[in-house]
Amino acid sequence: MSYPYQITSQEQYEKAYKKSVEHPEDFWAEVAENFVWRKKWDKVLEWNFIEPNVKWFIGGKLNITESCLDQWAEKTPDVPAIIWEPNDPNEKSITLTYKELLHKVIEFAVVLKNNGVKKGDRVCIYMPMVPELAIAMLACARIGAIHSIVFGGFSAKSIRDRILDSQCSLAITSDGAYRGGKTILLKPAVDEALEGDSPVKKVIVLQRTHSDVTMKEGRDIWWHDEIAKLKGQELKDPLEIMDAEDMLYILYTSGSTGKPKGVVHTIGGYMVYITYTFVNAFQYQQGDIYFCTADIGWVTGHSYVVYGPLAAGATSLMFEGIPTYPDAGRFWDIVDKYKVAVIYTAPTAIRSLMAYGLEPLKGKDLSSLKVLGSVGEPINYEAWQWYYENVGKKRCSIADTWWQTETGGIMITTLPGVTPAIPTFATLPMPGVQPVLMNEHGHQITESNVTGKLCMKFPWPGMIRTTYGDHERCRLNYFNTYPGYYVSGDGALRDDKGNYRIIGRVDDVLNVSGHRIGTAEVENIINVQDCVVESAVVGYPHEIKGQALYAYVILVGEVTQEEALKKINDAVNKEIGHFARPDKIQFVKGLPKTRSGKIMRRILRKIAEGEIDNLGDTTTLLDPGVVEEIKNHRV
Ligand code: WTA
Repeated sequence: MSYPYQITSQEQYEKAYKKSVEHPEDFWAEVAENFVWRKKWDKVLEWNFIEPNVKWFIGGKLNITESCLDQWAEKTPDVPAIIWEPNDPNEKSITLTYKELLHKVIEFAVVLKNNGVKKGDRVCIYMPMVPELAIAMLACARIGAIHSIVFGGFSAKSIRDRILDSQCSLAITSDGAYRGGKTILLKPAVDEALEGDSPVKKVIVLQRTHSDVTMKEGRDIWWHDEIAKLKGQELKDPLEIMDAEDMLYILYTSGSTGKPKGVVHTIGGYMVYITYTFVNAFQYQQGDIYFCTADIGWVTGHSYVVYGPLAAGATSLMFEGIPTYPDAGRFWDIVDKYKVAVIYTAPTAIRSLMAYGLEPLKGKDLSSLKVLGSVGEPINYEAWQWYYENVGKKRCSIADTWWQTETGGIMITTLPGVTPAIPTFATLPMPGVQPVLMNEHGHQITESNVTGKLCMKFPWPGMIRTTYGDHERCRLNYFNTYPGYYVSGDGALRDDKGNYRIIGRVDDVLNVSGHRIGTAEVENIINVQDCVVESAVVGYPHEIKGQALYAYVILVGEVTQEEALKKINDAVNKEIGHFARPDKIQFVKGLPKTRSGKIMRRILRKIAEGEIDNLGDTTTLLDPGVVEEIKNHRV
C-alpha cells in the first residue's frame, strides 16, 4: 500500500506546496481523509495568532489509537508495529505486531481505568525506553487521559514540578533503567518527587531491572500484578471518543524564562500533521524498518517513535540503550541486524561516533539504508559529510529536519530523493508551512541570503495550542514579539532558491546534545546557593555536544572555589538533571552590565567562545573594567 499523500517528485512537491498555501483547508482536509474518524469535522480551521486561538478539524470525533492501532490490527495484523532492541545485545529483542500491540494497549487501558484514571486526567510517565512506555502512552490516549512524559534523565525535583504544574493523579515508572553499563534507579526519584502533598494517588511500577525498591502500601502497585488480575476476564475496551481539539499530551520544554512550560498538543491536527510529515520526510514505504534513536521522553520520540510511525502502519524500531554500548558500532549493528531502511538521529550522536573513527563501521552491512535523518540542532558540515559518506555510502539522502516541541512535527526538511539536499541547510518548508524571516524592526525580510528571526505566518495542524494552565504564557512566549506571527526563537537564513539554513537559537535557550536548556533555569539554581551573589549562563560551541554551558559566577563569603563548584554542580543535578551541568564555571568579581542593570550577555558569549579581541562596543557598560578581569581569567 502506498500513501495517497506521499510526494514522490519535485513537481508534486511544488504543486502540493502551492495548494497548501492557496487552499490550506482543502489541502489538509484531503490528508485528513486518510485517518480513522468516528465523526467527520464540521470545519477545517479557525484561527488567529493574537490570542492565540488555533483549532483544526472542528467538531471531528476520534480516538488517535484507532488510527495508530485498530486500523492496522485489521489490515496488517501481523506486521511488526514495534521492534524493541534491548540495551544489552545479548538480551532477547521483542517484536509486537499491530494485533499484539493493540491487545496490550487495551489491557493497560483497563488497568488505568481500574486505578481510577478518567478521561481528561493527567498521567505522569517516567520510564526507560521499553515497549511498556509506548504502551502506557497509547493506553492513556485510548481512555482520553493526557500523558505528561518526563525524560528519564530529569531529577526528582523536575518530576515534582511537572506533576504539580499539571496536577497528575497517577504516575507510571519502573524500578530502574539500563543505560550502557549502568543501572539507574527511577522509582526512588518518583518517591522523592511525591514526598509531602502530592496530587498523585497511585503509582504503577514496571519491573525492568529487578532492583530493590520500596513500594508504598496503598499507593504503589506493580504493572505485572495489575495485568495478572485481568487474566481469564473478558476485557472491555475502555476506548473514549474524543474531540479533535481535546488534549492529547503535555510535554514540558525550556524557554527563555525560568520555569519550563507545558506545551499542549491536541489530538486531530497533531495526528494528521505528524503522520503526513513522517511519510514524506522519510519517504517511508510500507515494509521498511524505521529506526529513530530519540528517547520517547522528548518530542522526537513522541511524534516519530510512537504516534507518527504507528498512524502510518510502519514498523518502528525502539532502542533502549546508548550509541556507544557495548561499543561505538552499536547503531550499525542494529541497522545490519534488522535491515533498517531509515535511521533518524541527532548531530550530537553523529559527532560522538565520528570521534571513534571508521573502525566501528567495518564489517557492518548498511546496504539496507535509504534515508538518513537528522534532528535537534544544526548539523555541521563535517558531521553531514561523515554521515553521508560513511553511513549512507553516498547512496542515501539526508533529511535535515528542523522543528520544535512546539511545532509538534517536522517543519523544514529535504524530502529525501525528491527535493535536493544541501549540507547544513534544512532546505524547504513542508507543504502547509509558511515561514517568514523577520528583521529586528519586525519587518519581513524579502531579500535572499540575509539572516533573520524564523517565524510562521499561518497555522499548521500540529502546532502548539496552549501552555498548560497558562494561556497568557503561550501568547507572551510565541505570539507577542511580532503580533500575528508565531516566533520560533531560532535564527535562519534563506537563499535565493528559498532554502532555509538554521543558524540556531536567538533567545536565551541553549541546545546541549540536542537537549533544550534555558539559561535562566540554570541561573536560578545557581543564584539561590548561599555562596553565590549572582550568575550568568551562556552557551559556547562544543565539539560533540554542539553547545555547552559556560557559567560566570560571583561568590560571597568564606567558601573556596572547589566547594562552590561542588555545590553548584550538585544543585543543578538535583534540580534539573546531570545533562544541564555547566561544562565551565568561571568565578568573577563582577558581570558586565548596562547602566540600567541588564547583563550584557553578548559580551559574555564572546568571551566564552574565545573571541576576546572582538567584543564590540563596551563603552556603554556601567563598569568596563570587569570585562578585562573576566577576559584575563577565562577557563
Ligand atoms: C533546534 C526538537 C537546526 C532548534 C525537535 C529548535 C534544529 C530546537 C534542528 C527545538 C535542525 C531542531 N537544525 N536546529 N534540523 N532541529 N533544532 O523542542 O534550535 O527539543 O528551536 O525539538 O532545536 O528543540 P526541541
